[in-house]
Amino acid sequence: MIIAIDGPAASGKGTIARRIAAHYGLPHLDTGLLYRATAAALIADDRNLYDEAAAVAAARGLGLSDFDDATLRTRQMGEAASVIAAMPGVRAALIDAQRAFASWPGGAVLDGRDIGTVVCPEADVKIFVTASAATRAQRRALELIRSGEKADYEAILADIIRRDARDSGRAAAPLRPADDAVQLDTTHLGIDAAFAEALSIVEAARIRA
Ligand code: DC
Repeated sequence: MIIAIDGPAASGKGTIARRIAAHYGLPHLDTGLLYRATAAALIADDRNLYDEAAAVAAARGLGLSDFDDATLRTRQMGEAASVIAAMPGVRAALIDAQRAFASWPGGAVLDGRDIGTVVCPEADVKIFVTASAATRAQRRALELIRSGEKADYEAILADIIRRDARDSGRAAAPLRPADDAVQLDTTHLGIDAAFAEALSIVEAARIRA
């Protein structure tokens, strides 16, 4: 069973994907990390983020140790990842690894922006998770405050709106729901309720299969 979970930044897709994977005992891949690690490798090498040849080489050269980096999850790295993710060559360099992960014998859960549309168009279940930009910005701000950091709500909101526009507006594998995806709006749902909804979508697909 391949489960594709897509959606914009801070929609809750990552947490839902992790919990769905744990529930079914499936491996989970957060594909955003591939783009974040590519951007981090470029930055570490002092390369220009807009240099597509360098970005493609960084994507091709990713190794396991590139994922052991505390800065990968920062807002700045999310923004840098979104820039290099718009490059078709970078996407092409990362697609085989994602498909190999998805072909795990018992199935897998992948979350990202283009899993249901490009990486795994044959996925058994596709969920497109959304939430209003204001709600997503509040969630990110709360996360920062809980981890003892300062949170500038307006800056976070502006960031989210800019990233949505870039991820949805690019020509290569833009963020959009697959035609056969079930949409899950988490604006008014806590994480337990969102997980329960996602689980019922997966269960309904399992019954149909
Ligand atoms: O999910 P995330 O915030 O970690 O993703 C960071 C960026 O990576 C996101 O803004 C766009 C890009 N991305 C992508 O283009 N395709 C994916 N499947 C996953 C992430």
